[in-house]
Amino acid sequence: MKYRHLGKAGIQVSELSFGSWVTFHTQSGIDSTVEMMAAAFDAGVNFFDNAENYAAGKSEEIMGAALQKLGWRRGSYLVSTKLFWGLHARPNEQNTLNRKYLIEGIDGSLKRMDLDYVDLLYCHRADPTTPIEETVWAMHNIIEHGKALYWGTSEWEAADILSAIEFAERHHLHKPVVEQPVYNLFQRHRFGPDYECLYRDMGYGSTTWSPLASGLLTGKYNDGIPSNSRGALEGYDWLRNELTDKERLAKVAMLAPIAEQMGATLAQFSLAWCLQNPFVSTVMTGASRVEQLHENMKALQFVDSFTPGVLTEIDRIFDVT
Ligand SMILES: NC(=O)c1ccc[n+]([C@@H]2O[C@H](COP(=O)([O-])OP(=O)(O)OC[C@H]3O[C@@H](n4cnc5c(N)ncnc54)[C@H](OP(=O)(O)O)[C@@H]3O)[C@@H](O)[C@H]2O)c1
Repeated sequence: MKYRHLGKAGIQVSELSFGSWVTFHTQSGIDSTVEMMAAAFDAGVNFFDNAENYAAGKSEEIMGAALQKLGWRRGSYLVSTKLFWGLHARPNEQNTLNRKYLIEGIDGSLKRMDLDYVDLLYCHRADPTTPIEETVWAMHNIIEHGKALYWGTSEWEAADILSAIEFAERHHLHKPVVEQPVYNLFQRHRFGPDYECLYRDMGYGSTTWSPLASGLLTGKYNDGIPSNSRGALEGYDWLRNELTDKERLAKVAMLAPIAEQMGATLAQFSLAWCLQNPFVSTVMTGASRVEQLHENMKALQFVDSFTPGVLTEIDRIFDVT
């Protein structure tokens, strides 16, 4: 495993990390979660991502229980969670970054995870209805109380991130240091020109998500939806269209020979491609079973195989000029 700084922050994250969305609780109980987290840790993963709303809080509970069983030294790993959607369909408690929700929300997450603090706390989406200064102050206070060490944004527009940084700097508050954006061969917009100054000039970190586009980039959907896959899960109908889109599937088929030539599986190829981007601090992987994790961790050996010629060939498939 190699480690990269989280932008210009002092901490380092493993190039591949492990997240719990969809999988923990829905597809993986405590025992298999322990197995997967242990396999990740043994491979050098030091960062585990979660969110309050994943499985309505159960994902945090499972990660907390797994951490208890694993008994790792707290200094040896990083844990994150994310707040925004809330757990209760009441005013002030959902789709918000207001002060009350954030201050109470972090306490709920820490209790479910049985932790004294999280290393990273993200605002899971932007909230245009709460003034940015209220959110920045609340995140600053959470850090000052020792409940989080760093804070960041997820799927925020570059201009909103800049506003938060500028406000924090003006008032000497803890500023956000990391964005959590989608990033895979199909979805590259969060590293577009708007974001360049953040990553390149300001040293904003990035922990990227859905590197396999929910499994599409493994090639497993080429012949339909396998019964034991994310695409077959109840409640994920919205994802099914993307996973069975003919144009997308055709692109995946075109990638297969390039991956094969490298000696990589499509999953390893697609993960390694994400790490070509020097502005990526860590690629957050997901897995519903430990075999996937073992396969995915081997992606690191292919990072150097992406020559300029190979990258151009890939970009041609995705109509990127
Ligand atoms: N901030 C945000 O808004 C946001 C949003 C989404 C995710 N995230 C974070 O990013 C993490 C990763 O996202 P993701 O789970 O969508 O990642 P992903 O890599 O795009 O998809 C992971 C899923 O693909 C399948 N898979 C993985 N490796 C495979 C392999 N080698 N062979 C076959 N199938 C394989 C598994 O699903 P099946 O086996 O069930 O098919 C697995 O759960 C999440 O856990 C979460 O922490 C953040």
